[in-house]
Amino acid sequence: MNLAYFDNLLAAYSRGIVSDHVHLGLFSDKVEGHPLAVAQELMTLRHVELLDVKDGDSVVDVGCGLGGTLRWIDAHFERVHLTGVNIDQRQIDAARGGAWRKIVDFQLCDAAGFSKARVQWADRIISIEAMFHFPDLSGFFSASARAMRSAGKMVASTILFKEDANPQSVATVCAGFSPWPNPKLQLADLCEQAKVSGLKVVQVEDLAHYCLPSFEWMCPPCPADITDDPVIELRRIFEAGEASYPLLVLLPA
Ligand SMILES: C[S@@+](CC[C@H](N)C(=O)[O-])C[C@H]1O[C@@H](n2cnc3c(N)ncnc32)[C@H](O)[C@@H]1O
Repeated sequence: MNLAYFDNLLAAYSRGIVSDHVHLGLFSDKVEGHPLAVAQELMTLRHVELLDVKDGDSVVDVGCGLGGTLRWIDAHFERVHLTGVNIDQRQIDAARGGAWRKIVDFQLCDAAGFSKARVQWADRIISIEAMFHFPDLSGFFSASARAMRSAGKMVASTILFKEDANPQSVATVCAGFSPWPNPKLQLADLCEQAKVSGLKVVQVEDLAHYCLPSFEWMCPPCPADITDDPVIELRRIFEAGEASYPLLVLLPA
C-alpha cells in the first residue's frame, strides 16, 4: 500500500533535502534555535532512551518509515538484531539504502501482522508517530504482546485529537495524512486497547508542547480561515492545544 503523502517525502529524501526521520521534532525549552532535523533526532532519542536498548537486543520498529530510528540504533549498539515493519514497499526500499552496520530484516505487512508465526522473540518494540495510521490497533498491541519476551519493553507514540478539535481541520489533516482511520480515538481508548491485548501501560508523556516549533520549519503561519493544507491545519490544531502527542511505555502484562 503506497501512502500518498510519502510521494513528495520520498522524492525529497532521494534528493537529500529531508532526513530519514519522518516525524515531528522535540524542541527542548532549554536549547534555543534547533533546526528541525536536530529536533527530530532528539525526538528519536527520547523514545530510544525510554526503550532502554542493550547490546544484543532484538529490536522491532513498527511503522519504520525511512529507517531513521533503526539506523540510529544500528550506529550506537552492538550485536543488535533489527527488524523494520512497514506497509509501504517504497519506504522499505528507501530504508534499505545507506550504510548499515548490521543486516536489517524488513517486513512488508500491516502493524497487526508482524508476528503471526512467532512468539517471544523481541526484546524491544518501538513505534514513533505511526499508530494513528493503524486500522487494527488492538491487533498491533496483541502482535506486540505475542512478540515480546517476558523481560521485553515497548515505546510507542502517536498524535491524538482532543474531543473539541475543529472538525474541519481534523478532516483536512486526516485526508492529507491518510489513512487516519479513527480521528476520535482518545488516550483512555488507546490504553484500554493495550491493556486488553496483554500489555501494561507503565508511563505516559504528552510531548505536544515540545513538538510545536516543528511547524515553523514545515509551513507558513495559520491564516484566519481554515485552509485545505493538512500541514497548516495540523499546526492550527496543535497551536489551539487541541492535539496531544502521547508517548506510551508498555510492558508485557
Ligand atoms: C509519520 S510516519 C513515521 C515513520 C517513522 N516511525 C519515523 O519516526 O520516522 C508513519 C509510518 O507508519 C507507516 N504505516 C502506516 N500504516 C501502517 C500500517 N498499517 N502498518 C505498518 N506501518 C504503517 C507509514 O508507512 C510510515 O512509515
